[in-house]
Amino acid sequence: MIRFTHVGLRYGKSPGTESVALDDIDFEIPEGGFRWLTGPSGAGKTSLLKLMYLALHPSEGRIDLFGTPTSRLDRRGIALLRRRIGVVYQDFRLLQHLTAFDNVALPLRLARRKEAQVRADVTELLRWVGLSGRLDHRPDEMSGGEQQRVAIARAVIAKPSLLVADEPTGNLDDDQAERLMHLIRSLNRLGTTVIVATHNLGLVARHPAPMIELQDGRMTWHG
Ligand SMILES: Nc1ncnc2c1ncn2[C@@H]1O[C@H](COP(=O)(O)OP(=O)(O)O)[C@@H](O)[C@H]1O
Ligand SMILES: [Mg+2]
Repeated sequence: MIRFTHVGLRYGKSPGTESVALDDIDFEIPEGGFRWLTGPSGAGKTSLLKLMYLALHPSEGRIDLFGTPTSRLDRRGIALLRRRIGVVYQDFRLLQHLTAFDNVALPLRLARRKEAQVRADVTELLRWVGLSGRLDHRPDEMSGGEQQRVAIARAVIAKPSLLVADEPTGNLDDDQAERLMHLIRSLNRLGTTVIVATHNLGLVARHPAPMIELQDGRMTWHG
């Protein structure tokens, strides 16, 4: 279970440069739940997701992940929790010197899966996202949409407990976006808790699920 309790986040440390990115954020996602995170650009979606995948610490309030209060974790504890979280970054963050195949294989290799299994799983998933012809391409040899699909494949390949996806369909056409949603919903049905930030309201309408809506760093809707 994921729980945010009165969470606030400020950027900038010196007086005068401080800005409130999130204020009084309060919600709970049950294990195996699915949530949309919506709101206009600058509303705080990426900031909220960064708190959830432990890239930032809250300035106020409390965050519990998988039943653990994150404020009590040391570096090792954070690293262990992070391994259970798959992240699709808004800017992809693929490793530029690795091929599509090796980028997606990375989480499995870190988990020391057998290479034959790695090969089978990665090949199948990249085929599913329509990238069979791109296995040996590096990120700079792929389009934005192709890189986004590699980033998504890398985030889900190890079947994380929590999937955090930041505008994962921003560079995809409607068909690809639907295919991606199918993939994410399948993972969700298998037990992965999911949160997806988007401002694609058509996508939200086609896949009804509870929604957290942000405006200027505050929650304006939850339900
Ligand atoms: N590293 C940062 N330093 C200072 N301000 C930031 C930083 N990152 C984001 N912000 C500000 O926080 C607010 C929320 O940004 P963000 O979480 O990226 O929103 P969204 O993802 O909804 O577009 C914006 O006003 C943005 O300018
Ligand atoms: Mg964002």
